[in-house]
Amino acid sequence: RTPVAIDCDPGVDDAVALLLAFASPEVEVRGVTTVAGNVSLADVERNAARVLDLADVPEDVPLVSGLDGPIARRRHLRDEPVHGEGGLGGIDLPGSARRRHPAHAVDWLAAQALAAPGELTLIAVGPLSNVAMLLRRHPEAGAALREIVVMGGAAFVQGNITPAAEFNFYCDPEAARCVLESGLPVRIVGLDVTRAALFPLTAAEELSALPGAAGVAGRLLGVYTRRVIAASGAAGSPVHDALAVAAVTHPDLIGWESGSATVECHGEYTRGALVADLRTPDRERTTRIGRTVDAERFVRLLTERLSGYADD
Ligand code: BDR
Ligand code: CA
Repeated sequence: RTPVAIDCDPGVDDAVALLLAFASPEVEVRGVTTVAGNVSLADVERNAARVLDLADVPEDVPLVSGLDGPIARRRHLRDEPVHGEGGLGGIDLPGSARRRHPAHAVDWLAAQALAAPGELTLIAVGPLSNVAMLLRRHPEAGAALREIVVMGGAAFVQGNITPAAEFNFYCDPEAARCVLESGLPVRIVGLDVTRAALFPLTAAEELSALPGAAGVAGRLLGVYTRRVIAASGAAGSPVHDALAVAAVTHPDLIGWESGSATVECHGEYTRGALVADLRTPDRERTTRIGRTVDAERFVRLLTERLSGYADD
């Protein structure tokens, strides 16, 4: 089992990513850290706690609070409620009494990485504020990570918040740059692949008919998918963050190309844009960028794993 920590900002697809991770025997989730992004840190924390309850995650898996905004600029507030009222599609999950770990996410991540050098994979599916701060404050801990798997960026396709930029990188471009230029092994699961692995509305509706957490996951995906289809006419919804988890449980779902990458921080029209360089000399190729994906297999995997919550 690969030990992982998940840094997230739920968000519907973050919630689904958590449900997928906790239903996946390939990974052992050592803890969940939160960062402001889709909604404020307070809302993200509340949502994450409720999702952990939904998945029946034991209290000894820590939920750890992180940064409430980007490392070098003001927080970007969405003007469209992509994730619905409160960040979880307007779906009211039961309140949670789950405790927050007393440490700050940045320090907790550092301690986890140093406790198991070369073992921990960090799956980052929100703005990269916590991860960048980890690398700045605790570089030795960053170097002790096995890998950082990032959901973010649009390398060779259009962005989703501007033509050039994807939401997570746009929210905190300085942080994204810091992570991508770190020289650490990074895999990027960007819109290039998430938009090519759409989750169909029919699958969401079938899930919603199931009991328990499976049904809730179906309702979350249903609200989100209907919104995406109405806005873009796409055939389904990109469950971005869940694909980043699947990239760890099933790395061969995605076709990777190696190179190097950075993020534009200043451009008038291109702030937050991922700049991928596939011409990089071999020894500097620390980044792998997802280019192709087996969409059918991903949809099957996600459906099966979420359906499993009906039996609990
Ligand atoms: C990313 O932005 C957020 O809205 C999603 O949760 C995902 O992490 C997709 O651009
Ligand atoms: Ca997210």
